Amino acid sequence: MCGIIGINSNKPVTGVILNSLKKLEYRGYDSAGVATLVNGIINETKCEGRVENLENIIFKNKNDGSLGIGHVRWATHGQPSEVNAHPHSSEKVSVVHNGIIENSTLLKKHLIRAGHVFKSQTDTEVITHLITEYLKNNDLKTSILKMLKRLHGSFALGIIFKDFPDIIVGARRGSPLAVGYGPNENYLGSDSYALKSMTNKVSYLDDGEFCFIKKKEVQFFNSDGNKINKQVLEVSSDDQSYDKGNFKHFMAKEIHEQPNTIKSCLKEYIDKINNEINIINFPWNNKEIKNIKLIGCGTAYHSCLMAKYWIEQLTDLEVETDIASEFRYRKNKFKNSQLYVFVSQSGETADTYAALDLCKKNKMKTCSIVNVVESSIARDSDYVLPIHCGPEVGVASTKAFMGQLLVLYLLTLKLSFLHDKISKENYGLKISSLLELPKLIENTLKIERDIQEASKDFSKAKGSMFLGRGYSFPIALEGALKLKELAYVHAEGYPAGEMKHGPLALIENGMPVVVIAPRDKFYNKTISNMQEVISRGGKVLLISNKSTDEISSENLWKKIQVETISDELFPFLITIPLQLLAYYAANALGHDIDKPRNLAKSVTVE
Ligand code: F6R
Repeated sequence: MCGIIGINSNKPVTGVILNSLKKLEYRGYDSAGVATLVNGIINETKCEGRVENLENIIFKNKNDGSLGIGHVRWATHGQPSEVNAHPHSSEKVSVVHNGIIENSTLLKKHLIRAGHVFKSQTDTEVITHLITEYLKNNDLKTSILKMLKRLHGSFALGIIFKDFPDIIVGARRGSPLAVGYGPNENYLGSDSYALKSMTNKVSYLDDGEFCFIKKKEVQFFNSDGNKINKQVLEVSSDDQSYDKGNFKHFMAKEIHEQPNTIKSCLKEYIDKINNEINIINFPWNNKEIKNIKLIGCGTAYHSCLMAKYWIEQLTDLEVETDIASEFRYRKNKFKNSQLYVFVSQSGETADTYAALDLCKKNKMKTCSIVNVVESSIARDSDYVLPIHCGPEVGVASTKAFMGQLLVLYLLTLKLSFLHDKISKENYGLKISSLLELPKLIENTLKIERDIQEASKDFSKAKGSMFLGRGYSFPIALEGALKLKELAYVHAEGYPAGEMKHGPLALIENGMPVVVIAPRDKFYNKTISNMQEVISRGGKVLLISNKSTDEISSENLWKKIQVETISDELFPFLITIPLQLLAYYAANALGHDIDKPRNLAKSVTVE
C-alpha cells in the first residue's frame, strides 16, 4: 500500500518525482524517499512523514540525476522511520517496493549468513541484497529472474543500478504496476494516476512480468525471461479534480460535488427518451442468474450491504454480501447461476482483487463497480460499471460511496425489469424519481450549519452509536466508519432492534447517539428504540425526513430533517448529514482530514 514512481530521462528528474509522489500520497504517507543516479553513484534521500519533508531536505541538499525512483510508504514491516523508508539501497542497487515479501525472514537469515548487513526492519531490504548478490556472477536479466524466483508474496518493484545507468527495472506479482511513455523519456508508476501529469500513454504489467525501462524504449519480459509485446493504452486525464477550489479540504469539496457527480452518473446510465437504464450487453444470459454475491471492503462493503436490501426488495434473486478479506479464504460454493459483483472505488484493493481472481479461476461471471476504469479490478472483470464520479482524493470515501449506491441501485432495477419482477410503468416511475436525486441532494446539503453545531459533541465524545433499521442500517454502519476514521472517535453502527441484546449497556449519560428514522414501515419501532436510548442518558441526534406530522422532540437533543423521498432512495439523502458530521467533528479536532492517521486511499496489501 505504497506508491512507486520511476523516471528515465535526459533531464533532471528529482522535481518531477517529488511532484508525482505528492499525488501518490493517497497510497501512503508515513515516509517517503527518492534515489537518483548522480555521476554513476546511487544517491538516496529519505525521511519520515510527508513528501513535503522530503522536499525540504532535498532542497537543501540537491541530489539531481536524470534517472531515478521514488516512493511513498504505508508501513507494513517496521515502524514508519527514515531507515525503514524506501528506497533501500546498496552500493550497486536501489529498490522501491509495494506489497509484502512473505518469506523475507527466511531470506534475510540466508543473506546474513552470506555476509550481508541489514540496515532496516523492512521485508523490502532482502530484495536489495538478493539482487546485489546475484549481480556478482550474472548478467542483469538473469539476476532479476533469479531474484524474482526467490520471492514469495505480492509485490511491485522499481529498481535502479549503479552499473546499468540507463535502465529502470519494473516487476510485478500481485501488486499493480504501470509503464508510461513520453518523448525521450519513459516512466514507471504504481498506477496510471501517478503518471497522469506526464503522459496518457500507458501499458500495464501482468502478473509475473518485468520490464527494462530505457529513455527511448521499454522492453517487456514474461516470467521465463522471454521478450513480449504489450498493448499501449490511452488513459483519461482529469487534472481539475486535484484542485481543492474554495474548500479547505478535498473531503469538503467532494461532499459538495455530490449533486453533480450523481447527475453525471445518471447521464451516463439513463436514456431519458426511452426512460431506460443503459446497462446492456451483458456478457452472460441474465435469465441464468439466480444468485448474486456482492463483495467489497470498508465503505465499498457498506454499499454492497445496501444493495442487498434493494435486491431482496426488488428481485427474486438470492443475494449475499461478503467482506473480500474473508471471502478469499473461505470454502466457497461456486455455482454457474451466480453473478459476482465487486465494488471498489480504486479498483486496486488487494483483497477485493484476490476475491475477483478466485472467482475468475472458478469460471464465475464477474462484474465490477469501480471509479478508476483503468484499474486492475476493472481490467480483469467480465463486465464493468463505472461510477463516473471523477477522482476521489480525500482518503475517506464520500462521493464514490454515493456513486456506488447509485450504480448498484440501477443494476438492481435493471435486473428486476429483466427478470419481470417490476412492471414497465413502475420501472419508468422509479427511473423518473432517480432524476430528482441531484436536486434533493443539493437541498440536503443546506443542513450543513446544523450538523456543524451537532458535530462538536461528537468530537468530544469517548464513544458514540449510529442506529437504523432496514435501509437505514447499512448507512448507520457507514456513518460510524466515517466518524472513526476521521475524528478517531469510537463509533458503533447497529441495527436499532439489536440494542437490547447487549449494546444498550454502553449507553451512559451524555453519550451522543445518531438515530436514523425515516417515515418508513420501521418508523415507530425505531422511535421506541430511540426512547430506550434517551431514558438511559443517551443524547440523541435524530435524522428523519420532513413530514406534516411533527416528530415529538421530547427529550430529544437535536433533530435534522432531510427532504422527503421514497423509502428506497432515502439512503442517498441520509448519507449527506453523516458525511458532514464526521467531517466537522474531525475539523473541530484539527485532524488531517484528507489524510487520516494510519490510513491510505488505496489498500494494495492484504
Ligand atoms: C473508508 C474508505 C475505505 C474504502 C476501502 C475499500 O472511507 O474509503 O473503507 O472503502 O478501503 O477501498 P476501495 O473502494 O478502493 O476498494
